[in-house]
Amino acid sequence: MCGITAISTKKEALPFLLQGLEKLEYRGYDSAGVTILSQNQLKTIKTKGRLKDLKEALSHQVLKGQVGIGHTRWATHGIPSNLNSHPHTNEDETISIVHNGIIENYRELKNFLLEKGYHFHSETDSEVVVHLLDYYYKGDILKALQIVLTKLVGSYALCVVTTNHPDEVVITKKDSPIVIGKSDSGTYGASDIPALLEYTKEVYFLNDHDIAVLHPDHVDFYDCDLKPIEKELVNIPYDHEAAQKDGYDTFMLKEIHEQPHVIKETLRGRISQDQVVLDELAEIDFSPFNKAYFVACGTAYHACLSGANIFERMTKIPVICQVASEFRYNDPAIDEHTLCLFVSQSGETADTLAALRLAKKQQATTIAVANVLGSTISREADYTIYTCAGPEIAVASTKAYTTQLVVLMLLGMYAAQRLDKKVDLYHDLIQNLMKLPELVENVLQDEPLFAIYAEYLKEAHDAYFIGRSLDYASVLEGALKLKEVSYVHADAYIAGELKHGPIALIEKGSVLFAVASQPHIAAKTISNIQETIARGANVILFTLKGMEINNAAETYILPDIHPLLQSIIVAIPLQLIAYYTACLKGCDVDKPRNLAKSVTVE
Ligand code: AGP
Ligand code: GLU
Repeated sequence: MCGITAISTKKEALPFLLQGLEKLEYRGYDSAGVTILSQNQLKTIKTKGRLKDLKEALSHQVLKGQVGIGHTRWATHGIPSNLNSHPHTNEDETISIVHNGIIENYRELKNFLLEKGYHFHSETDSEVVVHLLDYYYKGDILKALQIVLTKLVGSYALCVVTTNHPDEVVITKKDSPIVIGKSDSGTYGASDIPALLEYTKEVYFLNDHDIAVLHPDHVDFYDCDLKPIEKELVNIPYDHEAAQKDGYDTFMLKEIHEQPHVIKETLRGRISQDQVVLDELAEIDFSPFNKAYFVACGTAYHACLSGANIFERMTKIPVICQVASEFRYNDPAIDEHTLCLFVSQSGETADTLAALRLAKKQQATTIAVANVLGSTISREADYTIYTCAGPEIAVASTKAYTTQLVVLMLLGMYAAQRLDKKVDLYHDLIQNLMKLPELVENVLQDEPLFAIYAEYLKEAHDAYFIGRSLDYASVLEGALKLKEVSYVHADAYIAGELKHGPIALIEKGSVLFAVASQPHIAAKTISNIQETIARGANVILFTLKGMEINNAAETYILPDIHPLLQSIIVAIPLQLIAYYTACLKGCDVDKPRNLAKSVTVE
């Protein structure tokens, strides 16, 4: 998920590697390292921490050479540490690799290699790759790589250097990004274009399973059968800052569009034959629990609301959902029969951490859902399930939210499975989960429509959101997104509660977003919507085919997916409406006023 650089040049390799990793720092990382190949030797320096720590370590060494690879790590397997940092080398240090992504079947490959007498120095999934290359190497690194790739299940951007091919870097990818560059003085690889721009704007794009071999003056390309292929050299028209955002105007928009990929990464390896696989929870016995608390802040709390609804439906364990700043002072009734779940993108939110510590003190079993491996909350909870959203740079949480919803969906199913609840919706749900990335991609294609919906808010100072059950959690999150980035006052109401007061606010021209995605109660929400239209509201309705009404200002038909997964789908338009409203109002979308990305104080 993080940063890779690679070079084969007639000059020194190290400066490109380091400047490239610096240009990729915005992606967030926890460790860094390089391998330089010179005088037929591989020299590897790597360290936990920041690039400045790597440079400090490098200042005590002389790393001269014209071929090299670099890496900044966003840990997924094995906490941040020097040994878990990349590059990883084989025993005799003739091969070195860097990897971005997740090797799903690394346990099985590791066992195979241990049986063959290999020794591992790290806890990472990536290290299996370098030992497999060693095992299959018979004089041709490409042939060895070709075999290794047939063994890997998962996602990878991979760079390989070996003393047996001193001028070359071999590069390949599947589901993780890497781009190839070329200039008069060398050829390059990098996980993102910003890392290349100081050296070249001429790039080649790799498709999954393509293989590139960097030489000092040219690049050779092959397909997965090692058949030579041609690649077009493309000129990059945009500057460095635009490139960091992958060509998007803001990190928020980039991260909204990353959701199909990160949802796929979060599902990766966690579904097998109609069963949810969460090995990280294998030791938990769910049977003693007579209640559960789901606790978080902000957007993560909204994910908890959806997750709690699903967990209770599936396990029949009562779930209480609370914001952490309340939970920690409400003297909650917790004991050894209580399961407490804490959701946090950063894993550092002070209120959530304090709530976790309170729960542990009172003998609860604690599970964290976090996005940053090795973060405080993930280290202090008894168990942790990770979202694989990668670094989220924009203050307003988008991809972290939808991947939290995915993890909480998996958790509900997993707990029910472990409790032998005959969940009859399993097969259907799992089929639908696998369709999620594609359906989210399809909804993203309707972005221009959501930009039009945002126009309703151009002059508005208030916006109303209504929904019931799971849709209420969705509209709470939609309202928060809008408030956060556009500063429009927005409130979310349980649709059934409107007549108990809030409908007094509705007047001619009020802008109201309504979500009716749950078949068993959509008609009730539609009735509530009619009450608001009768009082002059402009309603933008997100609902199911067949539920549309002819007097809404706008109606968006949600795709056909299992109702329990609609929260993930409906998050997309609500994120984009907030985004485009903020743009209309000229707000700083990535850094909204008064907000911090991680609230590490009370
Ligand atoms: C989300 O858009 C906000 N930036 C904020 O509500 C955030 O969700 C909250 O601070 C919790 O952060 P965490 O997930 O890192 O714990
Ligand atoms: N899964 C690998 C690890 O945890 C690579 C992580 C990354 O993409 O940075 O080391």
